Amino acid sequence: MKISVVGTGYVGLVTGVALSQIGHNVTCIDIDQEKVEKMNKGISPIYEPGLEELMVKNINEGRLFFSTNHQQGFKDSKVIYIAVGTPEKADGSANLTFIEQVAKNIAANIEEDVIVVTKSTVPVGTNHYIKDIIQQNLVKDVTVEIVSNPEFLREGSSVYDTFNGDRIVVGADNMEAAKVIKVINEPFGIPVYVTDVQSAEMIKYASNAFLATKISFINEIGNICEKLGADIESVAFGMGLDKRIGSMFLNAGIGYGGSCFPKDTKALTQIASNIDHQFELLESVIKVNNNQQSLLIEKAKNRVGNLKGKRVALLGLSFKPNTDDMREAASIVISKKLLEEEADVIAFDPIAISNARRIIGEGIQYTESLEEALEDSDLALIVTEWDQIKEINLQTYVDKMKNPLIFDGRNCYDLNEVEKYSIEYHSMGRRS
Ligand code: UGA
Repeated sequence: MKISVVGTGYVGLVTGVALSQIGHNVTCIDIDQEKVEKMNKGISPIYEPGLEELMVKNINEGRLFFSTNHQQGFKDSKVIYIAVGTPEKADGSANLTFIEQVAKNIAANIEEDVIVVTKSTVPVGTNHYIKDIIQQNLVKDVTVEIVSNPEFLREGSSVYDTFNGDRIVVGADNMEAAKVIKVINEPFGIPVYVTDVQSAEMIKYASNAFLATKISFINEIGNICEKLGADIESVAFGMGLDKRIGSMFLNAGIGYGGSCFPKDTKALTQIASNIDHQFELLESVIKVNNNQQSLLIEKAKNRVGNLKGKRVALLGLSFKPNTDDMREAASIVISKKLLEEEADVIAFDPIAISNARRIIGEGIQYTESLEEALEDSDLALIVTEWDQIKEINLQTYVDKMKNPLIFDGRNCYDLNEVEKYSIEYHSMGRRS
């Protein structure tokens, strides 16, 4: 089937590439000329394991195209996916400007009946709003159906997740349209759950909010464990044995970041407040997460007093491993606080440095060498659990640092293992 995808961020690009991989003819449309030229050469604008290989393969096999031209891109398409961003507005609500623009572009350029599928995370009611915009601006006499098809992939493993997801959610008013989307997705072999449009839109927000709640919950338990001498990893393991709780997403640390949880949790509290519902539980989840990001600094300050002039190795910058994404990364808050304390900071990250420079600036030093970051440092703060950090020979800390003092925000090391070295080690929710 001929399919168009508008927007080539994480969601749009991975969706387009995956749909071409299962045999569809896909044109991805983006307004960024330079990006489109690169993608046509098989160069991915984002770091995502396995993505570029699939791009090259499907371009070469003649199923995957990139264009800046909506009219050309939509030609003969039976289905148009919308995968543009819904950034956060100052009040926390979702900014729908890009969505509205795409809806108008669709209305202006389609020449035959289409199904418009929204992949972007949008507030409940937005798909119907999109349909209204398209219908009000239609140039040709064609029929438009809308389908909500939220995305559940994780950055850093988005290709894997697309082919191995737990469910595909399809929200539609028109069951024929739902069936078309079901058939398109059949080759993925993932169960498809068909529901109404508003429920599909809510499933996305509720899922992210629930996962964020799990993280803040385990972080709070971890903070209590630390004071009481219990161990958060044993506690999480013991809890996770109960199938009703499940063992996943119970890793305590310095909280969640990224382009989704922070934005979507705030947007959901905003959606609720629009109907005069105060979502107190989710507000607390957000508050706990904000506090969690500063904990490493507080612990370091409690231990060494003044951080002024101290050489600090900041280990990991991206919001999680296997991505160069810096959006809402804990490293932003932490480096800002370190600079306020007038610490001398050198940050290690294997791939996020160029993005980090744009956000954090030149007030700190950067290196892609873990050893260089540790050289002569007074303390090390672990912010992202990159494999390079998890798999380092712990003797390296002893050899490189002045007096090895580690504050680990991601519980990278086994406590019994660390004990074998002359390292002072503080982690999250575990005994020091
Ligand atoms: C998240 C969801 O997991 C996806 O299902 C969803 O599709 C996506 O948002 C989205 O809405 O687009 P993502 O933000 O890419 O995916 O990354 P996650 O792997 O979920 O991690 C998010 C944050 O939570 C990271 O900062 C991670 O370090 C943190 N986290 C995760 C924890 O602190 N503890 C955990 O146990 C798990």
